[in-house]
Amino acid sequence: MSVQPLHNSQVLIDREHNVVFQTYRRINVAIDRAEGMRIYDVDGRAYLDMLGGIAVNALGHSHPRIIEAIEHQIRRYMHVSNVFYQEPQVKLAEQLVAASGYPRVFFSNSGAESTDGALKMARRFGSASGRYDIIGFSGGFHGRTYGALSIMDKPLYKDGMGPFLPNTLVLPYNDVDALESRVDENTAAVMLEFVQGEGGIAEATQEFVDAIWRLKQQFGFLVIADEVQSGIGRTGDFFAFERYGVRPDIVTIAKAMGGGLPLGGILATEEAAALLEKGMHGTTYGGNPVACVAGSVVVDEVASSLMHHVREVGEYLHGRLRELHSAFPNHIREIRGRGCMQGIVLTMDAAPFIPKLLERGVIANATAGNVIRLVPPFIITRADIDELHAALTMVFSAE
Ligand SMILES: Cc1ncc(COP(=O)(O)O)c(C=O)c1O
Repeated sequence: MSVQPLHNSQVLIDREHNVVFQTYRRINVAIDRAEGMRIYDVDGRAYLDMLGGIAVNALGHSHPRIIEAIEHQIRRYMHVSNVFYQEPQVKLAEQLVAASGYPRVFFSNSGAESTDGALKMARRFGSASGRYDIIGFSGGFHGRTYGALSIMDKPLYKDGMGPFLPNTLVLPYNDVDALESRVDENTAAVMLEFVQGEGGIAEATQEFVDAIWRLKQQFGFLVIADEVQSGIGRTGDFFAFERYGVRPDIVTIAKAMGGGLPLGGILATEEAAALLEKGMHGTTYGGNPVACVAGSVVVDEVASSLMHHVREVGEYLHGRLRELHSAFPNHIREIRGRGCMQGIVLTMDAAPFIPKLLERGVIANATAGNVIRLVPPFIITRADIDELHAALTMVFSAE
């Protein structure tokens, strides 16, 4: 079942179909504007945004502090290149260092670009000692570049795209035996999401993480945490890995950090950061000053108070979703995740529920086949969650 778009939406949809690569499975909503937790379409309908630009708009839409920072910056300069020293980059790097405890930051433009930068660090690390294997895990998502795809397993993203990078492999997530039988002195790095986003809000087990660190101790490889979706406070901790009592060598970030502008990054220990020497890595736009001033507002808000709010509303959201689970045990198998990163795992395909939710005024998306993914802005309130609960109740009742 699909939502029937009204007139103005349909005009834009038809124009798009004529001229744009048809690579995205889009929701049938043509956007007019967005503010706070709401998106408005060109026909005047308002939607509660539980997708947040796919885990991007941490402060919601059109946040006044972000707009003010951007406006101020574009009047000073919009782009000068990484040939120069720029206050917005240095300030954001200082904030990230303070919030994360990692001493060094590299700025990129996106998550996938951060993945590839981190993989280059792994190769540099390994090439010094003749170890080349880089390992990813099933269900992981690291972006659409060849580096990222090489350590992912989903056929939809990879079929007909090979060959991929040599000496890369994908092991089953949360499988300690597989890890122990394959990781060895040829392993340069493993890369994982501690909470998989596209993979359906699947969390790494403590046992699995402990096994990675046991093997790391034995073989000395690097661990790369992909915190592109889970990081910058989304789970209620600044990084999802913090709960496991471990500290990866390299952390990739993007999404929420830019507050809606394209911005990615790599955080690293001093030793790992030193793997990339002058001239070895770079990007024209990475750390764009307009994106960085937006990022400064996001990191400031998250570190000063918003992360506590995420924890609190996250618990409320979890409680309300568990109520739904009790009310609709035939539809819902499990509630997963925490903070502003939660998933409703269904007993059936989740995709048909997305247009039904849209009809009730809620935007969400389906992932990993049977999971309704909820990655809302961090500013979500209890009233918003009650509205979501009411919409989900109506949708499941009508089944
Ligand atoms: C965990 C994770 N890593 C990397 C990426 C890739 O980020 P981007 O789409 O900005 O390239 C994503 C995007 O969804 C992601 O969720």
